[in-house]
Amino acid sequence: MLLFRLITIITGVLIAVSLTLSVFYFFEIRQIDRELERVNAEEAGAEYRLALITEQMDHEYWHIVEEGVQEAGEELNIEVKYLGTRRTNYDEQSKMMDMQIAGGVDGIIVQAVNEAMFQPLIDKAVDRGIPVLTIDTDAPSSNRASYIGTDNYEAGYAAGTALADDLDGSATVAIITNSLTSTHQKLRVEGFEDAVDEYDQIDIVTVAVSNNTRIEAEQEAAAIINQHEDVDAFYGTSALDGIGIADALEGHRREEDIYTVAFDSLDETLSLLNDGAIDTIIAQQPYEMGYRSVVTMKGILEGLHYPSIQHTSVDVITLDNVSDFPFDGRKKP
Ligand code: BGC
Repeated sequence: MLLFRLITIITGVLIAVSLTLSVFYFFEIRQIDRELERVNAEEAGAEYRLALITEQMDHEYWHIVEEGVQEAGEELNIEVKYLGTRRTNYDEQSKMMDMQIAGGVDGIIVQAVNEAMFQPLIDKAVDRGIPVLTIDTDAPSSNRASYIGTDNYEAGYAAGTALADDLDGSATVAIITNSLTSTHQKLRVEGFEDAVDEYDQIDIVTVAVSNNTRIEAEQEAAAIINQHEDVDAFYGTSALDGIGIADALEGHRREEDIYTVAFDSLDETLSLLNDGAIDTIIAQQPYEMGYRSVVTMKGILEGLHYPSIQHTSVDVITLDNVSDFPFDGRKKP
């Protein structure tokens, strides 16, 4: 009798446990099914899958490019994977590109930061039927379908002209550039040098490298202030260089008497301009670069042809005209 009762209780408990588990797993599986359905729908819904590969993923400038890319992606039903290295590292960035080629995306938008390195990769993608656009930094010797971004030589030239005008054709200049080997940085230095070459009384005393970090830009600028007492102007050739220069000038209380021309209208750069720490900004259009590259890629995938170079504009911003530029790099095309 006792044994019978025990068996009944155990059976009851087992039935209750298995019922509870069945109900639990029923809801769990339904949840997973829904999730899978959602992912499948999203994948099936996106007309094309693209990759954007940049030299620094977590960087305000590139986040603005990303905003443009994602907005165009949403409007056109295109999925864009935003990729990039943590710190500028050409090897790592080129490996990322190789992986995207192997993964078979529909199109690649890449900052071809070093032409010699990226040209073979771009051609490899194109040979496999994956169209490539270059953004921000071009590799004209490659088979990329089109370049979308600043004319980097002209932007450097504009920086040189602005400096020469503002300092009445006489200055001792130090340049901080993010790299001596990246294509766009070289062009920005060349353009600047050519512009100031026309002035006998403008000398460039040094070109220092920041490796695309704010801290190294600051350290280099601080060392220059200590070593070259005659330097009265700085030119920073990329987004973090001008900010690093301003940090160094602040540390030496020299913001007032040293002229600085910087690149990119990031929030902080604009506020440094408003505070008088930076005198001139060469502003690019990162949002537009992102947006236009997705629109162009869709067109290419659908058989349209585009000019091989699509330059975005550059604005020279000073305290006198800053109120005309409320967009901080997010001007829509
Ligand atoms: C350049 C980008 C670069 C960024 C870095 C910008 O001026 O166009 O290529 O990655 O600065 O700070």
